[in-house]
Amino acid sequence: MNADKIISQFQQRFTGAPTIVRSPGRINLIGEHTDYNYGLVLPAAIDKEIILLLAANGTNSCNVYSCDMQEQATFSLDDLTRSPHNWANYIIGVVHQLLDHGCQVQGFDCVFGGDIPIGAGLSSSAALECGIGFGLNELWDLGLNKLQIVRFAQQAESDFVGVNCGIMDQFANMHGKFGQIIQLDCRSLEYRNVEVDFTGHYLLLLNTNVKHQLGNSEYNIRRMECEAGVKKLQEAFPQIHSLRDCSLGMLDPLDELNDPVIRQRCEYVIEENQRVVKGCEDLKSGDFEAFGEKMYACHEGLSHKYQVSCKELDVLVDLTRDMPQVLGARMMGGGFGGCTINLIKESSVQELITHIGQGYTQATGREMVPYQVKIAEGTSLKECSIAN
Ligand code: GLA
Repeated sequence: MNADKIISQFQQRFTGAPTIVRSPGRINLIGEHTDYNYGLVLPAAIDKEIILLLAANGTNSCNVYSCDMQEQATFSLDDLTRSPHNWANYIIGVVHQLLDHGCQVQGFDCVFGGDIPIGAGLSSSAALECGIGFGLNELWDLGLNKLQIVRFAQQAESDFVGVNCGIMDQFANMHGKFGQIIQLDCRSLEYRNVEVDFTGHYLLLLNTNVKHQLGNSEYNIRRMECEAGVKKLQEAFPQIHSLRDCSLGMLDPLDELNDPVIRQRCEYVIEENQRVVKGCEDLKSGDFEAFGEKMYACHEGLSHKYQVSCKELDVLVDLTRDMPQVLGARMMGGGFGGCTINLIKESSVQELITHIGQGYTQATGREMVPYQVKIAEGTSLKECSIAN
């Protein structure tokens, strides 16, 4: 991502030598909707990122300019309320968390922009939250560690944006390592950066270019459905804390709820955790065929049992099924739009994109946008020379 335009916007609006931060988007290989169920995920930071420039301004106000939206939001540290600019709430939410935890944040100016497509399920929101958290930590020497920034960012999303999200996106953003995926246990927060040799294979994202409105509300509903399932199961198995502690064989008490949907949701989560464990082994041993099958199985589960897919995502996955160079495909992230992630054998990628793109337009009347992504480093300072 070329930072020049963002630097020049900063120089036009503000003064001072800024701290410069790069904050990436993320993919998730497998393990969807498992994070808030204290399960397992396999995400990675990618080479699409937001760049943020931050400088102290000696006041009690914060001025933030979004290059992509071409809008500026100003808020006072004495009165942090929701902004009419939706994007600004991710930032205000993090600042609120920092102040709430006694961090000495003072007024700052910030300009940010980047190439993470918004609403595509690549966690541009986590990139913004973590980028701000990381940047303010540097700017004011707050002494926060990565996990504290992750937690503040996650909390900001649920308090100021209203999505009661899990920890995966923010964790991947902060803990990504170049060329390595993150094997994260969302119960213990133990993680490992795992080197996977993708030689001969590509990770291709295909953007449906839709983001259905019900996404956020349905996300929160799925979380409540899983919690309702756990509550019922605890009557029979008082030792369990989450679906992570359950096996498929333990789900019969759910039938007493007379709500088959809850059982389906719980089944999906338990099966998905199993897929992550096995899928991780597949990747480590280079068995991409076996991993690809799990991606398709994951999509089936998300589409039918968890019901967070949509027509456009299903079309994109279905179009790959008879293509031998596609080993696996599935919707990625919260669902109801955004991207599919596809594991493909090195071949004529362009031909494949054209074929799927045409099929997609025929079926939906929409344009599909492809991104070939590489696994990148998590949020970090960016070395840039700034001309005076
Ligand atoms: C969104 C949330 C994550 C996670 C995924 C689904 O990206 O922010 O916490 O729950 O959906 O796996």
